[in-house]
Amino acid sequence: MITTTRAAVTSNIGYTFELLLYALIAGLLYLVGKRFYMHQKRDAIRLQGPPSTPFIGNLLDISKMMGKNGGLLYRVHEEWKRLYGKTYGFFVGPRLFVIFEKLEDVHEILVKQFSNFTDRQPMDFIHESLRYALVNQRGNKWRHQRSRISPAFTTRKLRAMTAPVAAKTAILSESLESYADCDEEFDILRAFQCLTLDVIAQVAFDLPSSCQADPNDIFLAHASRFFQEMPNPENCPPMAISLLFPELAPFCEFFHRKTSDSGRSEAWLIHKLRAGIVRRIEHPEPDRIDLISLLLPQNTTGIDEQTIDTVVANCFAFLLAGYETTSTSLSFATWLLAKNQETQDKLHEELKGIDLKSENVFDIVMKLPYLNGVFKESLRLFPPITFFVNRTCVNPTTVGSVELERGTVVCVPVWNIHRDPTIWAEPDAFRPERFDTPHHPMAWLPFGGGPRNCVGARFAEMEFKMTLARVFSDYRLKLATDSKELNVLNPSVMLAPERVCVTVERRR
Ligand code: HEM
Repeated sequence: MITTTRAAVTSNIGYTFELLLYALIAGLLYLVGKRFYMHQKRDAIRLQGPPSTPFIGNLLDISKMMGKNGGLLYRVHEEWKRLYGKTYGFFVGPRLFVIFEKLEDVHEILVKQFSNFTDRQPMDFIHESLRYALVNQRGNKWRHQRSRISPAFTTRKLRAMTAPVAAKTAILSESLESYADCDEEFDILRAFQCLTLDVIAQVAFDLPSSCQADPNDIFLAHASRFFQEMPNPENCPPMAISLLFPELAPFCEFFHRKTSDSGRSEAWLIHKLRAGIVRRIEHPEPDRIDLISLLLPQNTTGIDEQTIDTVVANCFAFLLAGYETTSTSLSFATWLLAKNQETQDKLHEELKGIDLKSENVFDIVMKLPYLNGVFKESLRLFPPITFFVNRTCVNPTTVGSVELERGTVVCVPVWNIHRDPTIWAEPDAFRPERFDTPHHPMAWLPFGGGPRNCVGARFAEMEFKMTLARVFSDYRLKLATDSKELNVLNPSVMLAPERVCVTVERRR
């Protein structure tokens, strides 16, 4: 009897195992078949592009071409544009990406046909906590969140957020003063990173950080580690696997988070953020205007976990979106101004005599025409985000002469548009005056375009202008010998200078 039961159990286990094996083989065959099929799509729509290999698509080509071009992703697209023109397709793993560089096509995608392109490229390799953030939402969920978040950046709210930004830029000015006293050269990229981290820590995290004053600040330590070791497919095998097999991305992300230093720092930042938000719910501060108070509902009694998760996710996304982008923009602008002393003098002339402690400082600074030209021109020459302006096609449609299937990702190559000589005369020259005359609305896209553009663009503009106004009204900056040429890094979607070493002289 016992022998019979044991035999039955053994045969059941054997049967289950067999079933699992068949399911696994069927799953693998499905994935393989799907990938072969996907790779025929481009031919079917007669789209030009580099020959691709099933499974990996053009990932190896991209990696090799980046290796030859100093790790610069935008150069890959310069090369492909030379070969295939302004519209072409390539594959990342199984996914088809179509590049559209003609301005009329860009306008179709970002503005005119927005209802066919509401979503961004699926972000497979993404921390669980960011899944609820605006940046990763689709369709109606995105519409709902965007309509809640946009009012956080109205002129009235930004005016109220100017005071903490001004206080942080005053600290930066003090440290520039000490460099001027000892005539010492230093890396201003690092100073701007501390500044933008201090600003975002206060306005998004409600954390009294002192990154500028204290190099050992714990928030600075975790945020720096998180950003320095931010994964890209070259340095993070789990991320590379998730590009080949998007279906496995959640496991790859989980593995990365549990095993890497940057993953642990991310967990620390999210923990701190959540604690700050819960504190604010328990002890509301009705007069306080910062991003947390703007995102929380007016009445927080009985607030549910899902709402808290959404606020945490968005504040964390603001840190990701607002820290590195703004500090690199400031560093590029400073490099350009230090390289072009005449332009720096013109800016100084405009800033001379402006009261940066005035209550109306927001309205004064935002309307300065030359400062505005410097803001726009430096972001034209060095848009910090080069490959994030993309959309997923959510309904089959046609753009230009290309028929697009649902699920195709379309990309706008911002760097290439900003440096196109048929759009901008002498595109490599730094000429803030060029913005005195109007340009095509799709020719300047550092913040993307259309209804899904950067929601924090006006906040970034305010912080950028407040900082440059403070620095260049008081000081003259010159490039140190080893920063006369700029070493630009572009390992992923972000563009950044390696360093910007300068010396400082007092103007007064
Ligand atoms: C110089 C600084 C910045 C640059 C260059 C920049 C650039 C961008 C770009 C190119 C996009 C994609 C837009 C598109 O797809 O059309 C974007 C999206 C976004 N940015 Fe920024 N950004 C900056 C600062 C900020 C700041 C300070 C915040 C928040 C405080 C922020 C929050 C966001 C969010 C939440 C999105 C997603 C919007 C959505 O999906 O609806 N950004 N940003």
